[in-house]
Amino acid sequence: MAILEIYTFPDPILRKQTKAVTVFDHELAVTSQSMLETMYLSSGIGLAAIQTGILKRIIVVDLKSGEEDVNLREPHVFINPKIVKKFGTTVSEEGCLSVIEFRGEIERAEKIIVEYQDVTGQPKKMEAEEMMSICLQHEIDHLNGVLFIDHLPLLKQKMVKKRLTKLAKAEE
Ligand code: CO
Repeated sequence: MAILEIYTFPDPILRKQTKAVTVFDHELAVTSQSMLETMYLSSGIGLAAIQTGILKRIIVVDLKSGEEDVNLREPHVFINPKIVKKFGTTVSEEGCLSVIEFRGEIERAEKIIVEYQDVTGQPKKMEAEEMMSICLQHEIDHLNGVLFIDHLPLLKQKMVKKRLTKLAKAEE
């Protein structure tokens, strides 16, 4: 296991396309564990492999990431996740480990059905609502090179991206 580096906006790697996982081996299990560890260390509830520079369709989610007691955590690994159905709309505040110093209100589907594979390659299906639904939509966007700030109204989006780009330059 290793702690991975998280790339942040406007790093071009976050805009890349990612490849489906076809080999379900020990390396995949280790990568998923490293992603979970990295996410816990950064106090996030979701992380996509692309955020750590790995261009594969892997995401990890744990809505109980903030639990001090490790036994109360609920780690999930989704390989090749795909939204097959969406229901309703909901608006909530989102943030992202790759978008530092900005949170914003984003509209998403309220409920989704996701098909994916577990770390051994077994096909799975999940009906997700509330936080899990929002988190999965956010992370699956990452796999397609999309960030949550891309969903902001255009003017606001331009303003936020300009400010974040300036901030990133200042930190170089
Ligand atoms: Co994110």
